[in-house]
Amino acid sequence: IFRNKLTFFAAANVSSSFPPPDLPEIAFAGRSNVGKSSMLNALTRQWGVVRTSDKPGLTQTINFFKLGSKLSLVDLPGYGFAYAKEEVKDSWEELVKEYVSTRIGLKRVCLLIDTKWGMKPRDHELIDLMERAQTKYQILLTKTDLVFPIDVARRAMQIEESLKANKSIVQPLMMVSSKSGAGIPSLRTVLGKIGRF
Ligand code: GTP
Ligand code: MG
Repeated sequence: IFRNKLTFFAAANVSSSFPPPDLPEIAFAGRSNVGKSSMLNALTRQWGVVRTSDKPGLTQTINFFKLGSKLSLVDLPGYGFAYAKEEVKDSWEELVKEYVSTRIGLKRVCLLIDTKWGMKPRDHELIDLMERAQTKYQILLTKTDLVFPIDVARRAMQIEESLKANKSIVQPLMMVSSKSGAGIPSLRTVLGKIGRF
């Protein structure tokens, strides 16, 4: 399914401009700079459709992409970006919160967590919201290429432990790197099951 052509089809900075929910949708959420946009590139092997950057805060709108006519993939703006203006930061966060708790057709939120840094209060906030809204989500530990394998395993155990009472979480937690490609084929398999065939 990830061999289908990826095309950009909408950007929204208010919920009234979300496109109609015609396809099953998978969204990528997480702090600024965790690698959400890079993950879309790695999954689809289509570089250049989704923009990425060294500087946090690049993605400033909710960007909707179509994967052929099967699946909609959504790149969310990151939260916790320290340098953005307060009011801008709040409006992105509110929009992301509204999106993950009310979007029709949203089948899965992939919550990206930087393996080196682990979960932060904002991540827990988003998780609590998804639990309340019964939005299905799964955890992706990212940038595993930057951390020793033993530390990746330790981080995974720590996170699994802290979320074990949660109901809307989809197990297992997956360990991935957009850079080395580690874990990407398994993630394609898991997410591919969500698409329309
Ligand atoms: P915002 O749009 O600001 O929220 O960021 P984002 O989460 O979309 O991050 P983006 O994909 O733009 O990546 C941020 C930086 O991390 C870029 O410099 C990427 O090259 C780098 N990066 C992304 N994934 C990986 C990875 O798996 N390993 C390593 N080493 N670097 C990565
Ligand atoms: Mg981005």
